[in-house]
Formats: sequence, structure tokens, C-alpha cells
Amino acid sequence: MAKAEFVNKMFNDIAPKYDLLNDVLSVGTHRLWKKKFINFALKQKPNSALDCATGTGDIAFKLKESISGKVVGIDFSEGMIEYANERAKTESQKVEFKVADIQKLPFADKEFDITTISFGIRNVENLGLGLSELGRVSNGVYILEFGQPKNGLYKKAYFNMLKMYVPVFGLISKRKDAYEYLIASSETFPSAEKFVDIMKANMSFKNYGCIPVFGGIAYIYFANNEG
Ligand SMILES: C[S@@+](CC[C@H](N)C(=O)[O-])C[C@H]1O[C@@H](n2cnc3c(N)ncnc32)[C@H](O)[C@@H]1O
Repeated sequence: MAKAEFVNKMFNDIAPKYDLLNDVLSVGTHRLWKKKFINFALKQKPNSALDCATGTGDIAFKLKESISGKVVGIDFSEGMIEYANERAKTESQKVEFKVADIQKLPFADKEFDITTISFGIRNVENLGLGLSELGRVSNGVYILEFGQPKNGLYKKAYFNMLKMYVPVFGLISKRKDAYEYLIASSETFPSAEKFVDIMKANMSFKNYGCIPVFGGIAYIYFANNEG
């Protein structure tokens, strides 16, 4: 099965339990990481935003609290978009959700001030194409993604701890393999400066950089023309 097909089916299957899994497995800390990420992206003072791989819309709803113009969320999993649309009925912030693939975004060049993507870029089959699409439709790209801590001991302890959670994930989601995929892909996905180099190779912005979150468990990456 191609990676895209596997990832799409996996997220459709875990969609009903996705928010619960996030809270249980990160002990709620994913909310703090996302807050830090959103505050960082908002420094560009955007009037519009596209949140890619939006899942159930966490980032999109939060962005809309501070953005007066349009905020759109896209995801290629119909299951996830269904939940995002359910949430939209009760959230006070108005966000539009669409089913779309990051590798072929249905938007015009520079249609948005910023694009954001949290814990999604790691899953994209053609990473270069995905990154170039994020850059094509906006004037600033902000990415939150798992990585590897640079400190060897911390890295070993962290990944060993993640592996202990496999049965819990399996119990809640009935897709133990999804969590095993999450760990394996986080352990091997290029992070920090390596990922910044891949961004530079696939986008045309003035500034690029990364900021470690929790000692490198995750990173905030940016590409923009500010300053
Ligand atoms: C781990 S979830 C992240 C959801 C949300 N951004 C968050 O931080 O909670 C990853 C999401 O990426 C989506 N995704 C993966 N590859 C994609 C692609 N090529 N195009 C659009 N969405 C994709 C999946 O369907 C899934 O909803």
C-alpha cells in the first residue's frame, strides 16, 4: 500500500478518537506546544491563514480568534474533516473546512498571508512537493513537527517512553500500528537544520529557521519575508 493510502486510511480510522488520544498521550501538553506555535505564526500579523493537515481543526479555530480575514482548514482525510465540521457547529470562530491534498492545494498563488501545518508534514508522501505548495499559496510558512532531541540520553529516554504507550494507544484506537508508525516516523524524520535545508530547497523566502520545543521533541519551523 502506498504511504498516502496508508496514512489516509489510518487517520480516517482514528478520527473519532483523535482528540482523546492527543490529550491522553501528550498528557495535555500538545495544547501548550500548539499555543506556542500559533503565537509564533501570529507575529507576522496575518489577515488570512490556511491550516493544512488540519485534522479536527485545533490550529485553525485558534488562529481565527486573532485573524479577522478568512481562515481555511484542509485535510485529505474525510473522517477528520467530518469531525472538524462537527466542531465548527459549536465553536464561536467561523472556519471553512475542505477535503484537499497538501501536494495539490486548490488555491491561487499567494492567496493567504500564512500557511500553518502542525504534526502533518511528516506524513506527506512527496515532502518537496508538499513544501513547495505551502510556499506557493502564502507569504509565510509555519510548521510544527516532531523531531529528535540532540541530547543522546534524552533522545533514548524519550523514544523508550513513547514505546511504553503503544498498548494504551491500541486500546483506545484499535489501531496499534498507527502509533507504531507515529514513533517510527518521528525517530527518522529529518529534523532541526536538516529539515530547514529541505525547506530552503523547495521554497523561495528570505528567512528560514527553527526553534526547538521541549528540548527537540518537536520543532517550530518558519519561512517568511519579514524584516
Ligand atoms: C497527526 S494529524 C495532525 C492534525 C492537527 N494538525 C493537529 O495538530 O492536531 C496529521 C493529519 O495530516 C493529514 N494529512 C496527511 N497527509 C496529508 C496530505 N497529503 N494532505 C492533506 N492532509 C494530510 C492526516 O489526514 C491527519 O489528519
